[in-house]
Amino acid sequence: SDAKIVLGIESSCDETAVALVASDRTIIAQRTASQEEEHAPYGGVVPEIAARAHAERLAPMLEAVMDDAGMKLADVDAIAATAGPGLIGGVMVGLVSGKALAMAADKPLLAINHLEGHALSPRLADETLEFPYLLLLVSGGHCQILSVKGVGKYRRLATTIDDALGEAFDKTAKILGLGYPGGPAVERLAREGNPDAVPLPRPLKGSKEPHFSFAGLKSAVMRAAQSGEHRHADIAACFQQAAVDCLIDRLEHALAETGRLPALVVAGGVAANQVIRAALEELAATHSMRFVAPPLALCTDNAAMIAWAGCERLPLGESDPLDLKARPRWPL
Ligand code: KG4
Ligand code: ZN
Repeated sequence: SDAKIVLGIESSCDETAVALVASDRTIIAQRTASQEEEHAPYGGVVPEIAARAHAERLAPMLEAVMDDAGMKLADVDAIAATAGPGLIGGVMVGLVSGKALAMAADKPLLAINHLEGHALSPRLADETLEFPYLLLLVSGGHCQILSVKGVGKYRRLATTIDDALGEAFDKTAKILGLGYPGGPAVERLAREGNPDAVPLPRPLKGSKEPHFSFAGLKSAVMRAAQSGEHRHADIAACFQQAAVDCLIDRLEHALAETGRLPALVVAGGVAANQVIRAALEELAATHSMRFVAPPLALCTDNAAMIAWAGCERLPLGESDPLDLKARPRWPL
């Protein structure tokens, strides 16, 4: 077949990941190593520990993925590596490795914006998903609404002015004495709670501004927990409900800006949340939009999405110079 094969590398946060993806949407091989255990004692990602772990794991993982696929570097058409945004030490580890491979094998390097990886990943899972679509990207590091009009054509409609939603879930988990990462634990506990029991704010709900804010919600969770007047399950349920209400309100605001788009797509680790998914599905139905939620393995940080972004860009004749710098901040 004339499908192109791209090797993807992801190391911008706490997942070291390598994948081989073909432009016909075959994920040939992929491996993801989580650093949860290293960071768990600190209740969050420690940049220095992350960079070191990426440096230790990346080379053996590259070898393992090539072995899994039974391929040599010469069989690959391009190398795609995350070049930002993210924790700079980790990004540098992955990008430098990508550059070295590109140079050694004389293949084009594609420096991928991690957010572009998330933004295009739904198209890897679903070949029927066409541009344009409205994307809600909700992870530990990001909370954005994007209008995705084509490869390289992204319009950011909203972002968070303080915490990302995953971060708010993680902080709520910490306040309630649950483990890290906190999202799944909060969701589990919330199932036993009453979502109306504790009055919590919906920051920026109804605001003319397009953005998100979750810092005030987190503080309110803190006060509710310290008051000792509420069951933890009720606090978890009310936090989650407040988060859902904020997401829906801000998406309604974005839709009023863009007009109806054919599809509403969710990506990022928080997309694992079933209550959030159900609310988004309902919103999409209300606006006669398709709702697309990629499989979880593609929602959380992974290298298949980075390789896929490379597959999308390669036919456009794009490649990046080998002296390109890693970017801790890099808005889409
Ligand atoms: O996309 P991701 O794997 O990594 C980042 O780029 O941040 O997202 C991780 C985030 C964490 O904050 C985690 O608590 C959250 O996604 N998360 C969830 C759920 N599962 C993971 N949040 C809410 N509900 C969940 N079920
Ligand atoms: Zn991410």
